Amino acid sequence: MTFNRVANSYQWMEKIVFLHDLEKVRNFHVSLVRDAESILLLGDGNGRFLEKISEIGTDAQILSVDSSSEMIRLSQSKIHNTRLDVRHVCQDLQDFEFTKNFKPDLIFAHFFLDCFTENEVILIVNRLSKSCPKSTKLVISDFFLPGKGSVSGIYRSILTYIMIRFFRLFCRISAKKLPNIPKIMRSTGWTCTSHKSLKDGFINSWVWEIEGCSKRP
Ligand SMILES: C[S@@+](CC[C@H](N)C(=O)[O-])C[C@H]1O[C@@H](n2cnc3c(N)ncnc32)[C@H](O)[C@@H]1O
Repeated sequence: MTFNRVANSYQWMEKIVFLHDLEKVRNFHVSLVRDAESILLLGDGNGRFLEKISEIGTDAQILSVDSSSEMIRLSQSKIHNTRLDVRHVCQDLQDFEFTKNFKPDLIFAHFFLDCFTENEVILIVNRLSKSCPKSTKLVISDFFLPGKGSVSGIYRSILTYIMIRFFRLFCRISAKKLPNIPKIMRSTGWTCTSHKSLKDGFINSWVWEIEGCSKRP
């Protein structure tokens, strides 16, 4: 799977289809970076979110893992004038080894998990659960299809189908349909502690914590 072929056009394609909606959703929970010490970015793409982090400001160590060298090149060019402490790793997340000396307390996965099948998402989330401190917050931005009953519901189902076909063809993603993120997260022991959405729940930003952790004194 590689996004190299679409890296340069990704941003304007997004703007044509969604205007500023995905940008808004990515930034719903960005203020969490202020209190973070180490941040892991999964499939962060071309660096727009890092630019936003830089505007908010953080002293956190940031590790950004993305399998596309072209996305990483764009990201590095966007942040080279900032004071952020960022390390980019160009690797498939499924081969990425978590090290003992990097324990993220905050993870962002924006429009990343929808590249995978449900079984692959479960494997990724279970690896995160095992490799991160219990207090880690996992922020996921992604699509969800609440129902097809309305005209807008049918439109969103068709749009989702086309997007998945497009990325399967050009980027070789393995997803054949949208993974059901809330169902997977709950079944793997995570609790949603904040949720904001646009377009009747179609575009979401959830904050997840390992079950029971947010209730601890
Ligand atoms: C749909 S794009 C989203 C990019 C960005 N997060 C955003 O919100 O615009 C998916 C990103 O995940 C990366 N990616 C896809 N599969 C990956 C994998 N297995 N390991 C690491 N990165 C991956 C792609 O290179 C791409 O940058």
